Amino acid sequence: MPERILVTAALPYANGPIHVGHAIGCYIPADVYARYHRLKGDDVLYICGTDEHGTPITVSAEKEGVSPKDVVDKYHKMHLEAFKRIGVEFDNFSGTARPQHYTLSQEFFKKVEENGFIHRETVERPFCPNCNRFLPDRYVKGECPECGAKDERGDQCEKCGKQLEPHELVNPYCTICRNTPEMRATEHWFFELSKLGERIAEWVDSGKVSRNLPNNARNFAKGWVKEGLKDRAITRDMSWGVPVPADGAEGKVLYVWFDAPIGYISSTIEWAKEKGDEDCWKRYWMNGEECKIVHFIGKDNIPFHIVIWPAMLMAHGEYNLPWQIASNEFLNLEGRKMSTSRGWVIWLHDILKEFDADAVRYYLLSIAPESSDSDFKLDEFKERVNNELIATYGNFVNRTLTFISQKKGGIVPNPKEFDAADKKLVKFIETQPDIVGDAVDKFTLMSALSKMMNIAQEGNKYFQMKEPWAKENDTTLYLCANLLRTLAIVSEPFLPQSAEKIWGMLDLAGAVHEHSFDDAKKLEVEAGHQIGKVSALYQKLEDDKIKSFAEKYLHAKKEDAKSDVEMVSYEQFSKLDLRVGEIRSVENHPNADKLIILKIDLGEMGQRQVVAGIKQKYAGQDIVGRQVIVVSNLEPAKIRGIESRGMLLAAVDEQDAPTLLKPDSKIKNGSKVA
Ligand code: 2FM
Ligand code: ZN
Repeated sequence: MPERILVTAALPYANGPIHVGHAIGCYIPADVYARYHRLKGDDVLYICGTDEHGTPITVSAEKEGVSPKDVVDKYHKMHLEAFKRIGVEFDNFSGTARPQHYTLSQEFFKKVEENGFIHRETVERPFCPNCNRFLPDRYVKGECPECGAKDERGDQCEKCGKQLEPHELVNPYCTICRNTPEMRATEHWFFELSKLGERIAEWVDSGKVSRNLPNNARNFAKGWVKEGLKDRAITRDMSWGVPVPADGAEGKVLYVWFDAPIGYISSTIEWAKEKGDEDCWKRYWMNGEECKIVHFIGKDNIPFHIVIWPAMLMAHGEYNLPWQIASNEFLNLEGRKMSTSRGWVIWLHDILKEFDADAVRYYLLSIAPESSDSDFKLDEFKERVNNELIATYGNFVNRTLTFISQKKGGIVPNPKEFDAADKKLVKFIETQPDIVGDAVDKFTLMSALSKMMNIAQEGNKYFQMKEPWAKENDTTLYLCANLLRTLAIVSEPFLPQSAEKIWGMLDLAGAVHEHSFDDAKKLEVEAGHQIGKVSALYQKLEDDKIKSFAEKYLHAKKEDAKSDVEMVSYEQFSKLDLRVGEIRSVENHPNADKLIILKIDLGEMGQRQVVAGIKQKYAGQDIVGRQVIVVSNLEPAKIRGIESRGMLLAAVDEQDAPTLLKPDSKIKNGSKVA
């Protein structure tokens, strides 16, 4: 019986490019799953779109000095191009700043309010007097109240995953100007999550979710419910977003995490409209339990998809609940955490400029961070592509087709009677596709990939054992041509571009993706069939190519990452007491050539003796009377026997020669530097 399945992948923020970690986090796995079910003949829709609201977008827009809409349009286009090249094929890729999405999100909000799950309340929220605005989500940082991690954002702690609200941070600071915000009253609308805990706990244990719902997601949901779900503010004081549909809500928009998942529905509606069948989206979202909704996400999105989003759907009451939340862990790069801010990252569009899309898909799927974080290594990429994809998959394709082409004039020969090895191969063709399919259905795609590769491996073993170059070979080549057809169909979800190429070289009717997965179990390449033109599927990856890729896209960044300046929190920085001082006297250090002893006037803080290593530059110069910047609260120390109570700030050149920093204009001695 065909199933109805709605596959979604987390709507990527349109605030920067997609990197390889994002790609394998959810977009490629969801694509494999959707392609497999399309081949199975299921009614599958793969839905996505850009997440275009919230502070991730406005922060990027402010940084780039353009409007949020400009940022969103730029990255929407970029995402689409990268997805297309890697073969991620959505049925619809929308965006949450489209009018359709605004209307639906506002209707959703009103319905949840009507159903008694939203209330308004005046609350205190961080406000930066310097920037003259409230500080939602990414505009404020501080310590996580849960785990104490420093410099966490106001929406979620990256370290412990805790969902946060901006006012919950300890020692908060404004990310724009670093000022400490004050608390100001403002009115917000709250989603009454507290009313839905029991239903969430029941639902995650019910038969309404997949048996394959990952334990970490189920346990997370139950743990959070046990802790007690709290009502959550679902509005923000900012102008970019879906306006809150209520009286007195001017200047407020829906919180991005309230409107983003509604994007799954609005993108489906957009798909239906474009298809010219306005209502057909309802068969995925509104028909009771007939549709399996499968959300593919990265692990940082688990709380929203396993608790908040289902709770929103429960509160609304008219939509289907998710059936599966498939989440991957994180992908590191050469042993380090990927970091876009430090540039330690491989962008999808960069790697696709240099390498075959299926080679990238193959490697990423083979190291998918399914149950724990995994590591992308360029050398391993080369090894796996050369020794597995090319040596096994490519080799079976090539040897079979080349042999038929060169020795049989491109005609698939007539088989003779099957011997035991032939019969074993026929059995393998009949059974292996389901083994691969079962693994996909269990959401274990790494295992599914290796089971798909077993087909090529078996093919090579059979070919080798049969020695068609030395022996009678009609049956061998007939069966190899059929196994190749099986391989093309079964590998289509994983390596879609290669599968189509094999199909073309076999010169079979239509395209692979129009065929049925179950047909892969049959022998349908007939004797007498003329195959097409044969060419190599892939190019071997050479060391030089890997090296030049690293140099072009990673080397400079690697240097960056190596220097890896340790971050200090604002709190740590603010402990330094920097003051303006004036040099009153200078004398040589008795025991060191490079040091001098200075007496510095710090105004009301009195006079200080400071030993400084600036003689190299300032010997012979009269620096008495100059103002300098002094670290005044440095622990006193004896430097070569002379006490020093402070330090002067100086810039240094490549030879470490110092240039003293001074105020731009004369200012009272002892003034604080902030
Ligand atoms: O983490 C993210 O990239 C979010 N933009 C994911 C949103 S998923 C969904 F709810 F839209
Ligand atoms: Zn500020």
